[in-house]
Amino acid sequence: MKLNNIIMMSFVVLLLLSSSCGQPVNKEKEEEKKVEEKKEASAIDVIMSRRSIRSYKSEQIKDEELNTILECGINAPSAMNSQSWEIRVIQNPEILKKIEGSFHNAPTLIVIASATDNFFSPVDCGLLGQNILLAAESLDIGTCVVGNFTNFLNSPEGAEVVRSLELSEGYKPLYSIAVGYKNERPEAKPRDKGKIKIIK
Ligand SMILES: Cc1cc2nc3c(=O)[nH]c(=O)nc-3n(C[C@H](O)[C@H](O)[C@H](O)COP(=O)(O)O)c2cc1C
Repeated sequence: MKLNNIIMMSFVVLLLLSSSCGQPVNKEKEEEKKVEEKKEASAIDVIMSRRSIRSYKSEQIKDEELNTILECGINAPSAMNSQSWEIRVIQNPEILKKIEGSFHNAPTLIVIASATDNFFSPVDCGLLGQNILLAAESLDIGTCVVGNFTNFLNSPEGAEVVRSLELSEGYKPLYSIAVGYKNERPEAKPRDKGKIKIIK
């Protein structure tokens, strides 16, 4: 092969390499940046769009969706990483029938139990719950915190349901979260900005 030809071929190879390798790296970085920007924006969007849902479709949420929601829940912070909670997910129609009405008839009810001997457990459980609400909202799945169900669980009629939850010694139901596909899209309730004071 003549020297001229070799130089020509090397030039072509270099040109091909720069066009096939260089551009995608830049493109990849651009895509990553876009995803990062989207993540930041969507966290705020999700917080601001979440509302308590009190009307649900009867269709059950998918197992993958439930797993994502629960995984996000247990990634909440907890004092000294004590994870002072126990989580029970009720999807059993017989049990749900017994408690119908006390949780807006959602197809899934998450019961969050707190450790009775841990001062920060209600805080840990609250943060766990907020992660659950926001993860669900990001999947457009409806939720509602249900406090009044705790009264039922602590009543004599609720004892059988509590037994079926098989909670460890020292854990008591603190509150529950109804979960299901939304059958309503309520407006935001007013918030009192007067509760905020910035001290500089
Ligand atoms: C600790 C707690 C207990 C609640 N208990 C109930 C309840 O028993 N039934 C219900 O319909 N909503 C209940 N809620 C939901 C609130 O009513 C709701 O979050 C509030 O009105 C604000 O509305 P939003 O969630 O749509 O922003 C509870 C919320 C919290 C944080």
